[in-house]
Amino acid sequence: MPPKKMIPGAQVSGMNPKVETALNNQINAEFYSAYLYLSMSSWFDSIGLRGFANWERIQAMEERDHAMKIFDYVLTRGGRALMTQINTPQSSWKDVLDVFETQYAHERIVTSLINDLVNLSTSQKDHATVNFLQWFVNEQVEEEDNARTILDQVKLISQEKGVGLLFMLDKEMAARTYTPPDLLKT
Ligand SMILES: [Fe+2]
Ligand SMILES: [Fe+2]
Repeated sequence: MPPKKMIPGAQVSGMNPKVETALNNQINAEFYSAYLYLSMSSWFDSIGLRGFANWERIQAMEERDHAMKIFDYVLTRGGRALMTQINTPQSSWKDVLDVFETQYAHERIVTSLINDLVNLSTSQKDHATVNFLQWFVNEQVEEEDNARTILDQVKLISQEKGVGLLFMLDKEMAARTYTPPDLLKT
C-alpha cells in the first residue's frame, strides 16, 4: 500500500475535518469548565466554605476528565487534539446563590454545545462520533440535575436567617469524593 500522501485527495487525518474542529472546540470548552469550577472552589475557600470548595474542586476534576475523554477519542480516530487558549473565568461572586446560578446556566450552555456536536456529527454521517457523544448527552442530564438540585437547596436557605443551614449543606458538600473515570469507556 502506498503512503497516504501518494493517494490523490486522501485525508491526512482519519477524521472528518469539521467534526475534528468541533471536537477540539469542545476539548477547550471542557477545560474552560474545569477552570470556572476551580475558580468557584477558590472563591468558596476564601469565604470559609470548605465543603463547597471541595465540591467544586471535584467538579473541576470531572470537567478535566471530560476534556481528556474527547482528547483520547480524537487521537483514537487518527485526528489531532489541539491545545488552544483557555478564557479567563469569573473570579468572584455576590453570594452562594450567585455561584450556583452561574453553574446551572453554564451547564445548560454546555448541553447545547453537546447537542450541536451531535447534530453536526449526524449531518456529516460520522456515526462513530454520534455514538461516542451519547455518553456526554447522558452526562449533561446528570450535570444539569446536580446543579439545579444544589441551586434549589441554596434558594431555600435565606442567607441571613439560614447561616446554620448553609453550614449543614457545607458538611454535605464536603462528603463528595472523586472517582477516577475509565476514560475510554463510552
Ligand atoms: Fe463537562
Ligand atoms: Fe459539566
